[in-house]
Amino acid sequence: MPRLGLGVWKTDNHTARDSVAAAIRNGYRAIDTARQYGNEQGTGAGIKLGLEQAGLKRDDIFVTTKLYNGEQGDYDQVAKAFEHQLSDLGLDYVDLYLMHWPVDATFIESYHAMERLYHEGKIRAIGVSNFDNDRMAKLLEASEIVPAVNQMEFNPTNQEHDILPFDQSHSVEMTAWSPLGGGASLSNPLIQELAKKYQRSAAQIILRWEWQRDIVTVVKSTHEKRIIQNSQIFDFSLSDEDVQKINQLDQGKRGLWYDDFQWHNPKGAYGNSIDQWPDTRK
Ligand code: A2P
Repeated sequence: MPRLGLGVWKTDNHTARDSVAAAIRNGYRAIDTARQYGNEQGTGAGIKLGLEQAGLKRDDIFVTTKLYNGEQGDYDQVAKAFEHQLSDLGLDYVDLYLMHWPVDATFIESYHAMERLYHEGKIRAIGVSNFDNDRMAKLLEASEIVPAVNQMEFNPTNQEHDILPFDQSHSVEMTAWSPLGGGASLSNPLIQELAKKYQRSAAQIILRWEWQRDIVTVVKSTHEKRIIQNSQIFDFSLSDEDVQKINQLDQGKRGLWYDDFQWHNPKGAYGNSIDQWPDTRK
């Protein structure tokens, strides 16, 4: 999968369409959305527009979406949810389908349904997101297909020092959401100092660090200038010493997690997200 992509969390349908089209036009080849974001229609419209503008085909890009907590369950339930997502996206397959959060009562059964969908050919790879090591161990024990990916929050102050080695040791690619800490890491004094030193933006320093750490990343921006800037990280490199300095910023602090936020609830999160990011196309 491409190692740098655009994410569209907290983005309404219109903005998602414009950001996704801008990203594809400017060289991005991976797009990451979710049912929970309430913007799959806009993301799909952006993919169509971006491919047309860039003169590309569907197969040239890598599309990830995620199974919503409230639609987890048996095969019939998950298959219905997935078909609805494909239809909203306007696609006939997705490259990667992730279980968004491990809802404890249903994550094993839901993953089995995803395995069946994978075998049916409409999903090129399946994986999970926000799985801690206990839940990952249970899933590995109970499933046939090793999740290709575990998408986790990962940024300078949260480097997942337990989950990253555990996933790597089980051949699960731990990838990053919120690589800029939702924007908060940009003002970190060390990041600012390195931005001056390398004559780059703070975002480019962080994204380059993640690249040198070999972390597959999706970064969100709704501004074309920043979308472009975030992809321009391949014409410089950080010294090993500076990579180590950023490594030292780790505080193991997550912005969102089960215990302090209800994202693992079967119902709560989707309702909240829809209130926050209304479906403006309807
Ligand atoms: P915006 O969408 O207004 O550009 P993360 O991916 O870690 O969640 O961070 C996303 C946040 O960081 C968004 O608020 C986004 O704002 C902001 N952001 C993304 N790229 C840049 C950039 N190059 N410079 C400044 N802020 C950025």
